[in-house]
Amino acid sequence: MYTPAITGTGVYTPENIITNAELVEAFNAYADRMNAEYADAIAAGEMEPMQHSSEEFIVKASGIENRYVMDKTGVLNPEIMHPALRQRSDDEPGIMTEMAVDACRKALAQAGRDAEHVDLVICAASNHERAYPAIAIEIQQALGIEGFGFDMNVACSSATFGIQAAADMVRSGSVRAALVVNPEICSGHLEWRDRDCHFIFGDVATATLVERRDNANGPHFEIISTRCATSFSNNIRNNNGFLRRSRPDGVKDRRDMQFMQNGRKVFKEVLPMVSKHISDHMEAEGISSDNLKRLWLHQANKTMNDFIGKKVLGREPEAEEQPNILQDYANTSSAGSIIAFSKHSDDLSDGDVGLICSFGAGYSVGSVIVKRHQ
Ligand code: COA
Repeated sequence: MYTPAITGTGVYTPENIITNAELVEAFNAYADRMNAEYADAIAAGEMEPMQHSSEEFIVKASGIENRYVMDKTGVLNPEIMHPALRQRSDDEPGIMTEMAVDACRKALAQAGRDAEHVDLVICAASNHERAYPAIAIEIQQALGIEGFGFDMNVACSSATFGIQAAADMVRSGSVRAALVVNPEICSGHLEWRDRDCHFIFGDVATATLVERRDNANGPHFEIISTRCATSFSNNIRNNNGFLRRSRPDGVKDRRDMQFMQNGRKVFKEVLPMVSKHISDHMEAEGISSDNLKRLWLHQANKTMNDFIGKKVLGREPEAEEQPNILQDYANTSSAGSIIAFSKHSDDLSDGDVGLICSFGAGYSVGSVIVKRHQ
């Protein structure tokens, strides 16, 4: 058996930023247009008027200030209200591959590794742009990696579940090194016309190189242990899928074909599940809260993270102990905890222990306990 380690991470950040102010202006213009279009039905009491969104609410309810997106022109156009992406030919790299390759190259560079040392690509994300061939295989080809690749989807927990799969294969010796890559185009599944959630998501790609610790070229994080759990819930759901056209009204512009959530219930049910999951995982590994130097949590909501951090550490966490990036990136689904890890881990000292945790739809929760080696 080999000891797996994270030797490099990379983050691809799209060029376009949407601020809360821009987002709210576009949403309110859309709401005004809808209210004008359906003025008669609203006056007759057959329809509720759409209400305006507000920057104050967004920051207070979520902590989000900005988000990066692959396209902002469509999202901010009140006549479109979704990303407007160029149609690519089948001979060009797909958009997810393009984002993923950038993040993977950064992870390889940090680890001082070439593609020839990697045997596996796992594309772990909440959405995949096509059914097949697997996006991972396209990424594998673009990077010039021998071996194999596959896609997986556990929504917001995809990255940690992918790291567990990669770490187990490295441990057993079936692969020498694996890239777990999370290209998340959340702007594509977000319903930008829904005031309750239009501010939640952003786009990004993250990559994590998992390899044998004894092959590490420099500072790295030994993977001490991983733990994954799922429990079925409809409180975060998206009904889009390959049977869409086979069902009555399936191809209509239906609300349930985008991200839907019962945010309050998610809060109430996911928080205890995640807090207990982390505490149990730490206890099983003999790690007390005093010995945990850093928590890199899923980045969905600041209040949620504050609650989990306090529960796990038994006190208010210091800002650097539990870094948030959601104010800049919004919720980037599976990539969030990896962005936090990638941007806020270099300063840890030899022997410091930290925990990466992602959670979300499924419900699902995954945790990875790591130890820094200089
Ligand atoms: N602007 C202004 N007001 C808004 C608004 C907006 N954009 N969106 C909703 N409101 C209103 C609501 O209509 C509601 O009004 P009411 O009290 O008159 O009914 C009020 O603000 C509170 O709405 P609510 O949905 O209860 O807010 P919340 O405090 O629960 O925050 C979320 C909403 C979505 C940010 C929060 O529930 C959340 O983050 N949940 C978990 C998210 C999560 O982790 N999801 C995982 C996804 S992978």
